[in-house]
Amino acid sequence: MKKILLTWANGMLATDFVDRHKNDFEIFSYDKNTLDIMDIESIENKVKEIHPDIILNCAAYTAVDDAEDIWKLLNYHINTLGVYNLAKISNTYAIDFITFSTDYVFDGKKESWYNENDICNPINEYGMSKYLWEIFALKENKNAIIVRTSWLYGWWKEFKNFVNTILRLSETKSELKVINEQFWNPTYTVDLSLAVSQVIKNIEKYRGSIFHFSNETENNDISWFDFACEIITMQEKNTKIIPCQISEYQTKAQRPNFSKLINDSDIKLRNWKEWLKDYLDNL
Ligand SMILES: NC(=O)c1ccc[n+]([C@@H]2O[C@H](COP(=O)([O-])OP(=O)(O)OC[C@H]3O[C@@H](n4cnc5c(N)ncnc54)[C@H](OP(=O)(O)O)[C@@H]3O)[C@@H](O)[C@H]2O)c1
Repeated sequence: MKKILLTWANGMLATDFVDRHKNDFEIFSYDKNTLDIMDIESIENKVKEIHPDIILNCAAYTAVDDAEDIWKLLNYHINTLGVYNLAKISNTYAIDFITFSTDYVFDGKKESWYNENDICNPINEYGMSKYLWEIFALKENKNAIIVRTSWLYGWWKEFKNFVNTILRLSETKSELKVINEQFWNPTYTVDLSLAVSQVIKNIEKYRGSIFHFSNETENNDISWFDFACEIITMQEKNTKIIPCQISEYQTKAQRPNFSKLINDSDIKLRNWKEWLKDYLDNL
């Protein structure tokens, strides 16, 4: 059974990965208090203790808006030094390394969907830090595997994600305004975990690859508004969802208007509506 050293075991993605794959892999998972990815010595000590086959890094700085101002330096610090440390140690000890990036490495100005080889041009600080993250990962470990994903929502109710927010607001609001001008693919962390487990099981084949893993939306473009409407319909709530423009809902970070990810690999994720139903049925 493959041994996995998993960073940030309490994050949304990591929680689902452990939950789904605890019988498939021997997983040693650590939160920020037991393994800080900015501390290279701690990483090396854990590697010497566990002898993992794979480092699966789910830790990151992820607060997109605060990365614009109050946590700008922390964002760069974690998302560059952290990934550098993990990539360096994994290379030194010949361990496979998988780490996650984002659709925010793109500027959203391409007139169609993004594939793995498209040119990055981030338009916010978090996106820039994740672009540097990819460069550090591949520079320090040419076998590093980068999984770009987008718009995660996960199993556990307590996590802050778009689906949980819409459900919470629908308890008290009769109307909700939701942006209808930004388009990307939602991704259920359970399906993402299943795809990552496929990578791990055949890792020899995928070293040095960049993947685009998010739920399939076929030829449709899905906006925040479309996603909110689907959540409300599936849950048979009465809240009216009203489409609005970006200018009505200003955030500190600019986001790409169109960053749908195309997955050209042989590992496929399922349709977004199927997984949304699965998530809502199990809440
Ligand atoms: N969520 C999305 O919509 C989305 C979209 C595209 C890509 N991604 C990427 O997918 C990956 C997983 O995302 P997620 O949503 O599961 O993230 P998450 O729930 O925010 O988990 C990441 C965790 O890493 C922890 N962390 C921060 N600094 C650390 C350090 N120095 N050492 C160890 N842990 C540290 C953070 O802890 P604290 O909160 O305590 O600081 C955070 O809880 C990330 O790489 C993210 O960039 C996410």
